[in-house]
Amino acid sequence: MDAPHSDALVFFGATGDLAHKKIFPALQAMVKHGRLTTPVIGVAHDDWDLDRLKARARDGLEKHGGVDEEAFARLCELLRYVDGDYKDEATFQALRKELGDARRPAHYLAIPPSLFETVVEQLGRSNSADGARVIVEKPFGHDLDSAKALNAILLKAFDEDSIFRIDHYLGKRPVQNLRYFRFANSFLEPIWNRDHVREVQITMAEAIGIQGRGAFYDKTGAIRDVIQNHMLQILAYLTMEPPAGRDSHSIQDAKTNLISRVRPLDPEQVVRGQFVGYHDEPGVAADSRTETFAAVRLEIDSHRWRDVPFFVRAGKHLPVSCIEVMVHLRPSPSRRNYDAPESNYVRFRLSPEASIALGVMTLGSGETMAGDPVELLACHHPDGDEMGAYERLLGEAMKGDRGLFAREDYVEQEWRIVGPVLGQAAPLYTYEPDTWGPKEAARILGDLGRWSDPKTS
Ligand code: BG6
Repeated sequence: MDAPHSDALVFFGATGDLAHKKIFPALQAMVKHGRLTTPVIGVAHDDWDLDRLKARARDGLEKHGGVDEEAFARLCELLRYVDGDYKDEATFQALRKELGDARRPAHYLAIPPSLFETVVEQLGRSNSADGARVIVEKPFGHDLDSAKALNAILLKAFDEDSIFRIDHYLGKRPVQNLRYFRFANSFLEPIWNRDHVREVQITMAEAIGIQGRGAFYDKTGAIRDVIQNHMLQILAYLTMEPPAGRDSHSIQDAKTNLISRVRPLDPEQVVRGQFVGYHDEPGVAADSRTETFAAVRLEIDSHRWRDVPFFVRAGKHLPVSCIEVMVHLRPSPSRRNYDAPESNYVRFRLSPEASIALGVMTLGSGETMAGDPVELLACHHPDGDEMGAYERLLGEAMKGDRGLFAREDYVEQEWRIVGPVLGQAAPLYTYEPDTWGPKEAARILGDLGRWSDPKTS
């Protein structure tokens, strides 16, 4: 039986940065595509009124994707605003009033985790949690203990099936295509294991810096910001066993089984980097040792993957913005007889465009047995993802489908993996902006060779 659809969307943190950049564009798109017809109630503590919120929404849309006048007008009809202190019961009474007849609201906590406890308690006390769902943003805790504490807070008012933990990478279609491509085809399965895969590299390169988020970022760093969540989600889809069914529980089980077999990171196998100039960013401590780049070697203790290294790196101020997975296969035993220096690979590009390609050798045009490396392109979507991740995720949460969200046990496993290298456990090196991070990042590759830097045009 399908879960009932939420009958209102409440978003806390309505005047904040996330709402401006991501939530308003997602709401407008949802309205435009007929996926949002319920009241939408923004809540914040800023002495604003509804008109100011609408103006802020328009500004957010102008800067992030554009205003669609018709959809925006319809969104404004749905929009309500409650201003007040989250500690004050009156704020939640006002919210209850705005909710009117709604019995199954979805509460989206686009606020710092330090405020979760107050808001969740108040939702419970004002009878706004019954029959409701709660959507929470990453970062979900800052280590294993705080993630467990946060879960305990949410579980006071909501059961696990009503909690939707956002990792927006799960809302990206090219990320979902990793899973689809693996299991919808038969040719990959026989080679998708330690007998045929030599190594896997995942690169999340961002040309941007920290964009005014110094105060947040300096407490976070690349490992907590993107490796613990986005990168491990990609790894799970790449390597998990086929789910027993297509329902969200089966998918979550398959992912959790996989992630629970990933060994905790070894500080010896982690290189952290910081771009030169980071200390000049507003909000960053003058002597900060927070990493803006990290390269890690992961291992999976499973029958399928034992001894295959998974190299993951992510960084700010790298030469390009691109997310790419390279699955390098073992070389052909006869390659020397055929002058084939390159081994085969499967390449998944997840952004800025989406493509899947197989790297192969073919005989070149000359008269010798020398070959050319070429790619067989399986798919190529120049515009990446047609529906934004937030539009998809908010829509799924309101439908009550948990397939694209992170389950509690899964998130805790992610923290277990990165736990040993949080803080200063691994060495930190500086790197110049617009380079591929510190040269020391090559160390963790061992004899295997070199990082596969994404080639962008
Ligand atoms: C966020 C991180 O989760 O993901 C940011 O906090 C990062 O630091 C962003 O820039 C990248 O997301 P996307 O969708 O642009 O790849």
